[in-house]
Amino acid sequence: MSAEPSLPTPSPAPRFGVWFIGARGSVATTAIAGCAAVTAGLRPPTGMVTETPDFTSCGLPPLSSLVFGGHDTVDCPLPKRAEHLVAGGVLPHGLPSAVHAELVAADREIRPGGPLPGDTDDGSGRHDDELIDVFAADMRDFAHRQGLTGAVVVNVASTEPAPTDGSLPPSSLYAAAALRAGFPYVNFTPSAGLHHPALAGQAATASVPHTGRDGKTGQTLLRSVLGPMFLQRALAVRAWSGTNLLGGGDGAALADPAAAAAKNAGKERVLADTLGTTPEGEVHIDDVPALGDWKTAWDHIAFDGFLGARMVLQTTWQGCDSALAAPLVLDLARLVARARERGLSGPLGELGFYFKDPVGDGPSSLAEQYAELRRFAGRLRDDAGDRGAQR
Ligand SMILES: NC(=O)c1ccc[n+]([C@@H]2O[C@H](COP(=O)([O-])OP(=O)(O)OC[C@H]3O[C@@H](n4cnc5c(N)ncnc54)[C@H](O)[C@@H]3O)[C@@H](O)[C@H]2O)c1
Repeated sequence: MSAEPSLPTPSPAPRFGVWFIGARGSVATTAIAGCAAVTAGLRPPTGMVTETPDFTSCGLPPLSSLVFGGHDTVDCPLPKRAEHLVAGGVLPHGLPSAVHAELVAADREIRPGGPLPGDTDDGSGRHDDELIDVFAADMRDFAHRQGLTGAVVVNVASTEPAPTDGSLPPSSLYAAAALRAGFPYVNFTPSAGLHHPALAGQAATASVPHTGRDGKTGQTLLRSVLGPMFLQRALAVRAWSGTNLLGGGDGAALADPAAAAAKNAGKERVLADTLGTTPEGEVHIDDVPALGDWKTAWDHIAFDGFLGARMVLQTTWQGCDSALAAPLVLDLARLVARARERGLSGPLGELGFYFKDPVGDGPSSLAEQYAELRRFAGRLRDDAGDRGAQR
């Protein structure tokens, strides 16, 4: 009796890692819970650009293929963190229990971050290079144990003050670790990350794609639409002033004037780039703990019309910060994972649509940035594509 020919074993579906720096924060927790909720069909993917028709056939990893882990310096378990976000009105009631298993699975993959008290570069604790090694080993270990096809490191940790003394801040240690581990890197915060001068060489010649910085989710998003409008209608902006009220961990971190300065620089740069001049006016950020993750941003724009007629536009943006940021973080992880798969490397300026202070010298207006993003999606889609066009 002849043996039945054995059927080939189907290869398991590829899975991609998303390694969050700041994995227990509001943005990361919302992204992890949200990915599970959308995958289970409990919620629609509202706010995810990569779920719109222009992006469906460019080979992005499906949401169901994403596996989460990361570093954090606090140990509040993710299910508990998600309950806090329900209490703050960020996540819908019942969601943390519906996606409990996914939150627990991600929680198991969170490793202690750093630097911790005692880690210094004066020889008495773990020095920078050791920390980079430890972080890179955690990232590699995650990808290895989970059998991942690839993984992307995404910085969503608390905003740091801009470094002043040449030493590497935590965000740059993690960014260097991502490159050492061979993983693409996304900086969703205004912190230095790969922008640190000591890492400029590595960033320019990286064999993996990287992008940033500082997600564009509210006031700056609006500025990148309104700035070009004033310019294109030949209206003269005299002054553009803004005030933000927010609470949560981000509000607390930005109560530090040095951290707020890092954030505000990006907001003001968008105006200079879209208007061609720097109008009078400043941006202020006030920490109002009672507001939690809900942000109110006011802009007051004084402008001149025909024959010097003086006019004013005022806008009020009331947004839930983590709900605005989380879908963009998932978009970026998918786009950059796919870019890596397609052999792209180095800075990805084409993702300026997502950032206040994008890498490269791409356009600053949202409409032009969206057009650039669509062209980029086309490059991801084209499997028979021109390898010569890839970096
Ligand atoms: N939500 C938005 O709309 C938005 C937009 C742009 C940028 N961002 C940026 O995203 C970041 C996260 O925002 P959030 O609201 O989730 O803040 P959050 O305070 O809730 O979370 C930050 C997390 O980072 C952790 N952390 C701090 N130092 C760390 C370190 N050295 N290593 C590892 N983890 C560390 C904290 O413990 C915390 O869990 C902030 O930098 C914020 O400026 C948010």
